[in-house]
Amino acid sequence: MTTRPRVIVSVPVPEDLRAELAGRFDIVDVPVGERPAEVLSAQVRADIQGQLITPRTRVDDDLMQSLPRLRVSSNFAVGYDNVDLPAANRRKVLICNTPNVLNNAVADVTLGLMLCLARNLVAGDAFVRSGAWTRGPFPLTHDIRGKTFGLLGMGRIGRVVARGAQAFDMKVIYHNRRLDEETEALGLASYVDRDTLFRDADVLCVLVPLTAETRHSVGAREFAMMKPTAYLINTARGAVLDEAALIEALRSGKIAGAGLDVMETEPLPADSPLCSLPNVVLQAHVGSATHETRRAMMELAVHNLIDALSGIRPTAMVNPELWG
Ligand code: GLV
Repeated sequence: MTTRPRVIVSVPVPEDLRAELAGRFDIVDVPVGERPAEVLSAQVRADIQGQLITPRTRVDDDLMQSLPRLRVSSNFAVGYDNVDLPAANRRKVLICNTPNVLNNAVADVTLGLMLCLARNLVAGDAFVRSGAWTRGPFPLTHDIRGKTFGLLGMGRIGRVVARGAQAFDMKVIYHNRRLDEETEALGLASYVDRDTLFRDADVLCVLVPLTAETRHSVGAREFAMMKPTAYLINTARGAVLDEAALIEALRSGKIAGAGLDVMETEPLPADSPLCSLPNVVLQAHVGSATHETRRAMMELAVHNLIDALSGIRPTAMVNPELWG
């Protein structure tokens, strides 16, 4: 056994932060996507007390069983659908994540996708580059001002998105499992029932976390309720949508378009039907992918791990009931 805690690192960490980790722990590098049981000896695994990972590492019961002394798993992401939370709770593994620091960046991509869809900005760029402009003007697009912005899921990111939509003079409505007190107090959006949200929104944004309940929860039934002029935006997790039903809705004109930063399969293969639909704008899961935001996320993820293993309450815990 080593004297210092051993931790797995499965994400590239900037030098200064890696030095902070190395000052306290023995670091064991496990390449992203590989399983400790496949690449580490049982002796090394027996010493591992913490890990720093991305959502590409599945923290399931098998993984936790293969790391019998694991106490903390620090996710370099706010979403933690890669974690079997009941199993983590059973095994008393504290799960940390990176909320708040990415709210603005994700909100920016959400609103950017809305502008791309309503004003057809991506096609407009191709139109100019190809010289098509010399043969005539670009087709007219649509205003967003005065339209209704709907949010499925209202939380930390949703509140920033709602403020942005308000700045575009949009009416903002939302549906959540329960009323969001902060949204209500700030007058950011009006609460509506779920079906009203889908029926009334001109722009419908999905911002719920991926859970067993939300998987494929937006599908054919919801698309049938939406306006044929409405746009759907997903900056949460791909599998919240029923992608096959979405493709059908986009092909048949049940909805006007979709802006997707996340998909069921990532990276999205070029032969996905989504890639050939003209009414879709795609991004490569880049909601939080700015230098500044990723740095802030990494600082938080590293310090969550250091704190938790040093007996200091970490800033962001998914299952804080395990602390102490
Ligand atoms: C990004 O998708 C995250 O969950 O942080």
